[in-house]
Amino acid sequence: MVATDGRPVPKGESPAFDLSTYLKGRQAKVEAALDRSLPLIYPEKIYEAMRYSLLAGGKRLRPILCLATCELVGGTVEMAMPTACAMEMIHTMSLIHDDLPAMDNDDYRRGKLTNHKVYGEDIAILAGDGLLAYAFEYIAAQTQNVPAERVLKAIAWLGHAVGAAGLVGGQVVDLESEGRPDIQEETLNYIHTHKTGALLEACVVCGALLAGATDADLARLSRYAQNIGLAFQIIDDILDITATQEELGKTAGKDLQAQKATYPSLWGLETSKAKAQQLIEEAKAQLEPFGDKAQPLIALAEFITMRTN
Ligand code: IPE
Ligand code: IPE
Ligand code: MG
Ligand code: MG
Ligand code: MG
Repeated sequence: MVATDGRPVPKGESPAFDLSTYLKGRQAKVEAALDRSLPLIYPEKIYEAMRYSLLAGGKRLRPILCLATCELVGGTVEMAMPTACAMEMIHTMSLIHDDLPAMDNDDYRRGKLTNHKVYGEDIAILAGDGLLAYAFEYIAAQTQNVPAERVLKAIAWLGHAVGAAGLVGGQVVDLESEGRPDIQEETLNYIHTHKTGALLEACVVCGALLAGATDADLARLSRYAQNIGLAFQIIDDILDITATQEELGKTAGKDLQAQKATYPSLWGLETSKAKAQQLIEEAKAQLEPFGDKAQPLIALAEFITMRTN
């Protein structure tokens, strides 16, 4: 047996999991697959705008989670790669639209000017639409060696997670809650679990669905994902206050300025950090029955609270 950094592991010991090596390897695979997924064809303007944001870097956490979950329950990276790419297309759509003047009005994303700053609002809206539609086409047309009924289940789950019952609904309540100091924990949790948690959960669940996971495994993985999803947005809110623009690749301090409902605005930084940490512990507890095989998902959960961008 070899560890993730290639060193041989003494017999009887489980290899130490090196998250940084794992992430680098997976990010490179995902980058290459994303680049291949979207060629620059006529009308070039729209494909250029879609590729500008899709290939602008980012942590690639969503596709990596999708691949990791598929592998955990016995599938392969190849089975889940089209769906993993689709997750990043949808995530990128949500960022392009989130940054529009009508929403968060941001000038920087992933260390570059936002899509509408480069291509104009009209093309930015269409680039998001193009990515959203292509994501579903890409799963349906490109997934191989997976029974069709599993692919259908994944597509249905994803559609539900991204629409008004999920991400879109969360974004609506986020916008409605701007400038309202009376927002309580229940509404804030609705915002976070929908605008951010639903897509992260879809990444985990769809990876598992493609591999033919049992209902019991799906339920555990879905609880894991709900916990990391909420923790992910709490940390995003914290970093908006504590990190710099250079670290984030997006303008820092925007939430306070826009009077967004956030965890730190309700609970303060320390309590918010403690809540995120507690959610990560709850997420990891869901993985116990999987044993050592769950090392990547455990490390990815820990990464969510350790991250600096
Ligand atoms: C940012 O997501 C938007 C949120 C849901 C908070 P990420 O922090 O995953 O952004 P990238 O993909 O790494 O740029
Ligand atoms: C964004 O939340 C969630 C989605 C894009 C769906 P934020 O508005 O907090 O994300 P950032 O901080 O702009 O990345
Ligand atoms: Mg927003
Ligand atoms: Mg935003
Ligand atoms: Mg934010």
